[in-house]
Amino acid sequence: YRNLRIALLGGGAVGAQVARILLEQGEELADRVGAGLELIGIAVRDVNAPRSVDLPQELFTTDAESLILGADVVIELIGGIEPARSYILQAITSGADVVTANKALLAAHGPELFAAADQVGAQLNYEAAVAGAIPIVRPLRDSLAGDTVKRILGIVNGTTNFILDRMDQAGDSLQEALDTATTLGYAEADPTADIEGYDAAQKAALLARLAFHTDVPLESVYREGITGITREQIESARKAGYVVKLLAICERLTDAATGQEGVSARVYPALVSRGHPLAAVHGGNNAVFVEAEAAGPLMFYGAGAGGVQTASAVLGDLVSLARRHVVGGPGFAAAANADLPVRDIGQVITRY
Ligand code: NDP
Ligand code: HSE
Repeated sequence: YRNLRIALLGGGAVGAQVARILLEQGEELADRVGAGLELIGIAVRDVNAPRSVDLPQELFTTDAESLILGADVVIELIGGIEPARSYILQAITSGADVVTANKALLAAHGPELFAAADQVGAQLNYEAAVAGAIPIVRPLRDSLAGDTVKRILGIVNGTTNFILDRMDQAGDSLQEALDTATTLGYAEADPTADIEGYDAAQKAALLARLAFHTDVPLESVYREGITGITREQIESARKAGYVVKLLAICERLTDAATGQEGVSARVYPALVSRGHPLAAVHGGNNAVFVEAEAAGPLMFYGAGAGGVQTASAVLGDLVSLARRHVVGGPGFAAAANADLPVRDIGQVITRY
């Protein structure tokens, strides 16, 4: 099988890390796929802009459209609505599969993009769009596809979780904590998206769609941010045995009066009992607590933001869809490292 040609759109916090890993670990990834993964170019606004990672200059271009035309897989890491939407549609119509981390775009235009992909049998993967590095999109879409999800409670915005944590633990003001979150790279370019709950609402719409198998328009998601929360409120919540967390809540409901079923998605600062697993999610981390009929409660936890962490989810999407291009490749039962010996390396964790 010939190499799969990968076009990367965006070379920022996430894109630069995806490019670095593809270039540094391409051979190992190729073994897992059964075909080479050739990075054919990186589309950016300014080819001379400073980069967080040292990457070959000849890969950079401002001509995204030509890059897309020569690709088997397009990875969209530009963000925002346009031109990301048009580029993804162009990729799909020209026969490429797509990976994106763009929650804002999918929450606003998901049905259009998913339908366009379905129409031509293209794959559109978006694991990184919800909760950064945490695997939650494919677990909901694939692993839990045979179960009935009843409710999801998610801490899906790292910035607000960090802020609430600092207001609680360090006595910071909201602004002080937001400044630190911005320095750490958690916040959006316009942090209003974080603190007013827009980012969490986009993720709630995506989670609810996956969990309940129905389109959930962004306008139908109730949204309230954390700007009204004071240190005093956090302290009195603590004294009463609660922590304040900005939650994305997605529920399948039955109307008591009519017996009709429906779904609801909402984002607001909530009181979480100190004994609940979500109460122990600190700093910029995220966690998604899923309650499913047969599986029971499941908790997904980890880094919800950050360039390299998010790159992990993007590359997972890439390897996953690339495997489906390769007939006779290692596939899902892959033992690509079959020559890696199993050794007795002693006990790393102290035996009780
Ligand atoms: P950045 O702002 O760091 O990078 C954006 C990149 O897109 C830059 O390289 C920029 O070019 C390029 N770009 C912008 N506009 C255009 C355009 N019109 N044509 C071509 N290239 C363009 O974003 P991130 O890497 O942080 O985010 C990328 C995506 O990942 C977003 O959808 C974001 O929501 C999502 N995401 C990000 C996370 C994070 O922690 N950062 C976590 C989870 C998801 P140039 O460099 O020349 O300016
Ligand atoms: N600003 C977002 C957050 C980045 O704080 O969670 C990851 O989507």
